[in-house]
Amino acid sequence: MTTYADVYDSWKADPEKFWMEAAEGISWYQKPSKALFDEGAPLYEWFSDGMVNACYNAVDRHVEAGRGPQVAIIHDSPVTGVTQKITYSALRNRVATLAGALRAKGIGKGDRVIIYMPMVPEALEAMLACARLGAVHSVVFGGFAAHELAVRIDDAKPKCIIAASCGIEPGRVVHYKPLLDGALEQSTHQPDFCVIFQREQEVAEIVEGRDYGWHSFQYGVEPAECVPVEGNHPAYILYTSGTTGQPKGVVRHTAGHIVALNWTMKNIYNVDQGDSFWAASDVGWVVGHSYICYGPLLAGCSTIVFEGKPIGTPDAGTFWRIISDYKVKSFFTAPTAFRAVKREDPKGEFVKKYDLSCLKQVYLAGERADPDTILWAQDQLGVPVIDHWWQTETGWAIAANPMGIEPLPVKVGSPSVPMPGYDVQVLDEAGHPVAPGQLGAIAIKLPLPPGTLPTLWNAEARFKKSYLEHFPGYYETGDAGMIDEDGYLYIMARTDDVINVAGHRLSTGAMEEVLASHPDVAECAVIGVADTLKGQMPLGFLCLNAGCNKPHGDVVKEVVKLVRDQIGPVAAFKLAVVVDRLPKTRSGKILRATMVKIADGAEFKIPATIDDPAILDEIREALRTLGYAGGEPAHA
Ligand code: COA
Ligand code: AMP
Repeated sequence: MTTYADVYDSWKADPEKFWMEAAEGISWYQKPSKALFDEGAPLYEWFSDGMVNACYNAVDRHVEAGRGPQVAIIHDSPVTGVTQKITYSALRNRVATLAGALRAKGIGKGDRVIIYMPMVPEALEAMLACARLGAVHSVVFGGFAAHELAVRIDDAKPKCIIAASCGIEPGRVVHYKPLLDGALEQSTHQPDFCVIFQREQEVAEIVEGRDYGWHSFQYGVEPAECVPVEGNHPAYILYTSGTTGQPKGVVRHTAGHIVALNWTMKNIYNVDQGDSFWAASDVGWVVGHSYICYGPLLAGCSTIVFEGKPIGTPDAGTFWRIISDYKVKSFFTAPTAFRAVKREDPKGEFVKKYDLSCLKQVYLAGERADPDTILWAQDQLGVPVIDHWWQTETGWAIAANPMGIEPLPVKVGSPSVPMPGYDVQVLDEAGHPVAPGQLGAIAIKLPLPPGTLPTLWNAEARFKKSYLEHFPGYYETGDAGMIDEDGYLYIMARTDDVINVAGHRLSTGAMEEVLASHPDVAECAVIGVADTLKGQMPLGFLCLNAGCNKPHGDVVKEVVKLVRDQIGPVAAFKLAVVVDRLPKTRSGKILRATMVKIADGAEFKIPATIDDPAILDEIREALRTLGYAGGEPAHA
């Protein structure tokens, strides 16, 4: 029997051979001459001289192999009451026609297309139609507001934007089209045209001459064939939060992306052609790109597009109903979703209502998986619950339990072991590897494997500065943690100002920029405080301008609204408090980490560099007014 150690060691012994073998799982117009292209080190590329098409591999090749009648996409939308199944043949036809219509309007290889859509199959079809033409898609999550969309439009400079008229959140309609119009008023760049997918729940107004209807613009067009692209041709750009308000445009090259994802489907997720695979995330996140759209389709699985929530649509049994109805074999969600279900149904009464014998394993990612949640899910479902660790930047798991190779013993609290391609090391501040069990910055020895980011869109210097310069020869993950004696990884915290709210990655720096724009705010800080449901919640501290007589409650309400309007509801920014001063070092750096410890009730040492320790008491008092515990300093 092949073991994890055999596979990992075979990669380490000969990475070139390992990835050329993995590339056999993909259909090429022209096979690459080699796997790694390291001429531009420390920037690396994979399979650059191969010719390939991602849509062909995800769709057409299954039809050509006689699997056309198999279901490719299942749309289950408890918020609209709609369910729909699309076979691989139907998907091929729909995508070819959409691509034909885009081509007829001038979209071709290398053009950028922004997609702003909720969880409908048309979102995947739009992504695949771009891939078919070699156009570069950039999907923007629907929970972002007009300003965030505008920032992405100005950075990606799309020739076309494809949007839905609306999305449905429990209790409210999300007006995508007015948000798009608002974004286009703010952005400098303007696309040549927009395509609007009108939904029954809200028909949007069309701007004559700029906007086309999804159906009408496809009428009578010639379907498009797949366009072969070079292995290093960008498949997509996905923006993610960094430390500032300017998001980072993570680039994904085509060949590495599909080779790696295809490899993971069997080796990590243990699914084969014809199996049902479900990632309950959103196409706007990396999980949605890799494991709602491309991964399961590359592997010839049926993928589920779920438009709903773990609870309240209509109840805490929705996950189990879907798993049972569509015979899901591997299920992927975020720990926060299980915490929500557990809170509503701690004894698993809903679980008992469904036949879940199809389910073989569950995967969690996006945030730290707390042991209570893992153990609860394991108890309820009776299958392994696998924590795995990855990032938008990597596109697939850095560390996981490779269920399709060899199920390793689960250590609750650890996302298990590095996957082939990743030489993960824990480093001290000077960049030296630390001993097992010691905490440090988690870094990955270069080169990163296929499928990971080669650079940032239009921002190579920022790519180098953000990821490569701190520890030369390594990729800096931004996570801190340790590796134990058995080689299991533990991810403990971020080393930067990124926080994780309900599995969503958010920048406190971006929120601070919005708070600072309020006319009464002189200075501010945003931190992430522990939250039993969402993992973390953002909390703002505001110092007001001298002479501001407005009641503090009013300023708080205004800044909460400002963040919702500027960044979007997904920021979940609801807590802020006015203080006189912020704790700082003598050089003026705000002591955010100390404030987090106080809020979370953790022990901490008063930093030696603090300017005025008395401010910490004021912060503690302010936090008490919001109901936070208030940690005490440790005695030296
Ligand atoms: N479009 C528009 N708004 C959206 C949105 C979308 N696609 N997704 C979320 N929002 C809104 C929510 O409606 C909510 O708005 P509100 O302040 O008016 O209530 C806000 O953004 C915050 O969203 P979120 O933090 O996700 O909370 P939630 O109330 O939607 O539900 C739970 C969160 C508790 C159900 C959570 O368990 C969950 O499932 N989160 C999503 C996890 C996930 O898929 N992560 C992806 C990484 S794998
Ligand atoms: P994103 O780019 O949105 O996928 O967020 C990536 C970040 O989420 C990582 O850098 C981690 O901080 C966190 N994260 C993702 N998965 C895990 C996990 N399994 N355990 C702990 N943290 C995780």
